[in-house]
Amino acid sequence: MSPSPGPILVVGGSGLLGRELTRQGRLAGHRVVATFHRGAPAVAGVDWRHLDIRIRDDVTALILAVRPDVVVNAAYQQSDWATTADGGTHVALAAAAVSARLVHVSSDAVFSGTADSYDESHTNTQARLVTRLRGAREFLIPTPR
Ligand SMILES: NC(=O)c1ccc[n+]([C@@H]2O[C@H](COP(=O)([O-])OP(=O)(O)OC[C@H]3O[C@@H](n4cnc5c(N)ncnc54)[C@H](OP(=O)(O)O)[C@@H]3O)[C@@H](O)[C@H]2O)c1
Repeated sequence: MSPSPGPILVVGGSGLLGRELTRQGRLAGHRVVATFHRGAPAVAGVDWRHLDIRIRDDVTALILAVRPDVVVNAAYQQSDWATTADGGTHVALAAAAVSARLVHVSSDAVFSGTADSYDESHTNTQARLVTRLRGAREFLIPTPR
């Protein structure tokens, strides 16, 4: 008998995007574990865990305990390097440690918007801090498998 699949872990599950990801995950029949920072929303059927992604040891401990097959990182805090850049890196490293597939949510706002489309070869030319934070996070996060 093959082992039952591990859950989907939505980091930042309490956010605008995270709440929809948890809802869609449940609708698709997945086990969903999701994290909140300030407060867990009232989304039923989700295993809510508190997490501060700025604390690398906490991120590692949670992911080792949950053993997810997939980690979706939808956590960020505007203009906060420790959350948006360092935190995203903590999530990526912990996901890799359990061989989980990582889906890292970003925004095309990391680019200037002067081109019609962008790919991985484009350089982040945005000057705003939040976009530089996002760009740093993408640079720091290992290439997904
Ligand atoms: N919304 C959009 O239209 C949109 C469009 C394109 C891309 N995106 C991208 O999608 C991602 C999520 O956006 P969003 O709109 O869903 O943001 P959001 O509603 O502000 O949610 C942010 C999430 O991050 C969590 N968080 C904040 N600081 C944290 C910390 N130190 N440790 C752990 N979790 C922390 C929040 O938890 P608490 O709320 O519990 O504090 C919340 O779950 C971002 O990367 C954003 O750039 C969003």
